[in-house]
Amino acid sequence: MKYGNIHIVETSDGSHTIKIVDIDEHYHSVNGALHESMHVFINNGFYYINSNKLNILEMGFGSGLNAMLTFAESEKSNRTVEYTALELYPVDEEIFSKLNYAEILNVDPNKYFLPLHTCEWNKNIELNKNFIFKKINTDLNKYADNKHFDIIYFDAFAPDRQSELWTETVFKKMFSILNIGGILVTYSSKGEVKRNMRNAGFKVKRLQGAAGKHHMLRAEKN
Ligand SMILES: C[S@@+](CC[C@H](N)C(=O)[O-])C[C@H]1O[C@@H](n2cnc3c(N)ncnc32)[C@H](O)[C@@H]1O
Repeated sequence: MKYGNIHIVETSDGSHTIKIVDIDEHYHSVNGALHESMHVFINNGFYYINSNKLNILEMGFGSGLNAMLTFAESEKSNRTVEYTALELYPVDEEIFSKLNYAEILNVDPNKYFLPLHTCEWNKNIELNKNFIFKKINTDLNKYADNKHFDIIYFDAFAPDRQSELWTETVFKKMFSILNIGGILVTYSSKGEVKRNMRNAGFKVKRLQGAAGKHHMLRAEKN
């Protein structure tokens, strides 16, 4: 199943996002897609963990923005990243080829962006010697692997849309695949989400949210 009618829309900081028209749901905040990804996943996730070698899991590869930013930041900060991205409904070329992320960041789309979309699924791809990328075409609830992670970017659609992905059971699974000291970051700070994370074993911290949102969450496995 795909999402039916989808459009590219421009968000407040000029970066694009994808809108699922029928259910009026966006892949990012309309108050700035790039701003939100940098704030939630890069500044409060990627740069929170102090290690030169990171294993990252992204729940919901979608437009590829988080993966692209992580790729670019891993080079800038000279860190080695193994990045695994899960996606149930890949975005079509007709859409991803028009997204303006590389242009806005002034980086080469043929290096940092398009290969993320066009590379083979379910296979480790060395995009450079410090960035190993694997995208897996699966439902999070069916994902099973022995691999452990330092950071999980939890970027599902909003809890009101996809309540089945924000449950205690799902967070228990996320907890079990994190290394000790590992974190899960997400843009949502809903009370029920926080409770489900705590019941799953996480120590949860509410942080300042990206533009348009009061808070976000960082859940830590101690
Ligand atoms: C909020 S969007 C975020 C996408 C992405 N992080 C980005 O920067 O564009 C959520 C993504 O999760 C994917 N998704 C939804 N349900 C899923 C599931 N059960 N398993 C894996 N991916 C799922 C959607 O198709 C969508 O691409």
